[in-house]
Amino acid sequence: MSALPNGAFSGSLPFLSDQFLFDEDIVYFNHGSFGACPRPVFEAYQRWQRELERQPVEFIQRRLEDLLAEARARLGAYAGASPDRLVFVPNATYGVNVVARSLKLQPGDEVLGTNHEYGAVNNTWRYACQVHDARYVTTPIDMPLNSADQFVDALWAGVTERTRAISISHITSPTALIFPIKPVIDRAREAGITTVIDGAHAPGQIDLALDELGADYYTGNAHKWLCAPKGAAFLYSAAGPESLLEPLVVSHGWNSGRSGSRLFDNFSWTGTMDPSAYLSVPAAIDFQTENDWPAVRAACHALASELRSAIQDITGLEPICPDSAEWYSQMFVARLPLDRLERLRDNLWPRYRIEVPAFERDGEAFTRISIQAYNSPRDAERFVDALSELLRD
Ligand SMILES: Cc1ncc(COP(=O)(O)O)c(C=O)c1O
Repeated sequence: MSALPNGAFSGSLPFLSDQFLFDEDIVYFNHGSFGACPRPVFEAYQRWQRELERQPVEFIQRRLEDLLAEARARLGAYAGASPDRLVFVPNATYGVNVVARSLKLQPGDEVLGTNHEYGAVNNTWRYACQVHDARYVTTPIDMPLNSADQFVDALWAGVTERTRAISISHITSPTALIFPIKPVIDRAREAGITTVIDGAHAPGQIDLALDELGADYYTGNAHKWLCAPKGAAFLYSAAGPESLLEPLVVSHGWNSGRSGSRLFDNFSWTGTMDPSAYLSVPAAIDFQTENDWPAVRAACHALASELRSAIQDITGLEPICPDSAEWYSQMFVARLPLDRLERLRDNLWPRYRIEVPAFERDGEAFTRISIQAYNSPRDAERFVDALSELLRD
């Protein structure tokens, strides 16, 4: 579908913008970088903070363990994961760091990623590999990406007898693609290769069934598309209580045998911190349930799809994947003319008040657009108008 002749988009979003806390008159198309937290969830977060301050010892020493267990149970039910395989971590970067430092790589080992991985995750593996004299290899996944076979074959071309772990995104950062990870996980298990999935963008944007998915390790952010407050993420370890994951920060629980789970002993207490973001995850799940999130997500995808076509009509540049919710959900990437990139970057936010990433990657220019429940067809029109103006001579 293209933009309608009069410039209007046909999407019918639920207009939840009054539930968020944005400044007036901006277009926020970058939920992918930093998600926004809806009012009721933010209020729940502040209630937890007040609750803690009423009696810190009572809250932290006597109640917190049970409260975290309840929050973890809700998250587990939401993500199709047994709660004893889940721990809260502050963010996905932290989650990948824990796994990378725990794997005990040997000299000559290889860790395989793709050329679509997140920069900080690349650095994490480079660091871990450097420390252990191992090698981090990123295999190219060419675009357009049109089939699961194309993906699996391209990735598997990077596997060697030294491949110790495969670390890939569920939804990629620079290209917003939903990678078909299940066949990779299955094949890796047969080959005895550990799988580490960076699901930073997945919770909230696609349905998860982590036990069924079968990855060894999976980290996901609640503070992006699930709309929890910042600092709420999880790390899943398939081995559950017997997990060999080691904490980045050693604290009281380490080696204590206290809870009957190595995972919980190592991760449920890593020094004093504010646990309110973790405890607000159930409120985020409730918010999405109460607002019929499958319908919100479908409406966001429909608007994303229309906007994607409209951008292609303006630029005449090829899409990076088929127009399907199998390949992208609420976030998509479109090609831009490279010679206009600087002009776009210099104007979209300062002049048009449109917050959206525009960047160069391998000699091509792209924009990544995130559509969330607060965006409206009017936002898409504003972007299309700005783009048309900025691409004009
Ligand atoms: C694919 C991917 N992985 C990891 C991260 C890191 O997330 P966080 O900053 O919450 O650790 C991001 C952030 O945008 C990302 O896009």
